[in-house]
Amino acid sequence: MLSAQERAQVAQVWDLIAGHEASFGAELLLRLFTVYPSTKSYFKHLGFCPDETQLLTHGQRMLEAVGVAVQHMDNLRAALSPLADLHAQVLRVDPSNFPLLIQCFQVVLASHLQGEFTVEMQAAWDKFLTGVAVVLTEKYR
Ligand code: HEM
Repeated sequence: MLSAQERAQVAQVWDLIAGHEASFGAELLLRLFTVYPSTKSYFKHLGFCPDETQLLTHGQRMLEAVGVAVQHMDNLRAALSPLADLHAQVLRVDPSNFPLLIQCFQVVLASHLQGEFTVEMQAAWDKFLTGVAVVLTEKYR
């Protein structure tokens, strides 16, 4: 559960990302696939080296879903339910991949926002993204 202050920090960072979902998302995927190559096994249909267009397309979809989560911080489970079905039951993404994505997300934010991405904002985003990951992986059971 995020405090009012943490929510405000998540929303403040989102305001800086909104409108740039594709480029932030593409960089996130590029970092994920490069730093943790095992994650590419879920994206075999994109080929061994996904091209820029594929990264932008999927990156945009992924970040738009994060945007939906930001708008529904009070009700993540309902807002992300179809996406949770997809990741758990259809794609069967192992939950251990989510912390890898969260780590790369924070690096993307830090490298773009630099001093604007305060320690408190990182803590709030880590908590928020962990909440999203919990919802996206809990339908395994
Ligand atoms: C598909 C979001 C984490 C693998 C998707 C889609 C969205 C999404 C919005 C598209 C759904 C659709 O087309 O209906 C997210 C979010 C994540 C997350 C918000 C975490 C914050 C992960 C992780 C992996 C993964 C950790 C694996 C390493 C996939 C794959 C697809 C997918 C393989 C299908 C791609 C395709 O059809 O081309 N995800 N995802 N996701 N996701 Fe995720």
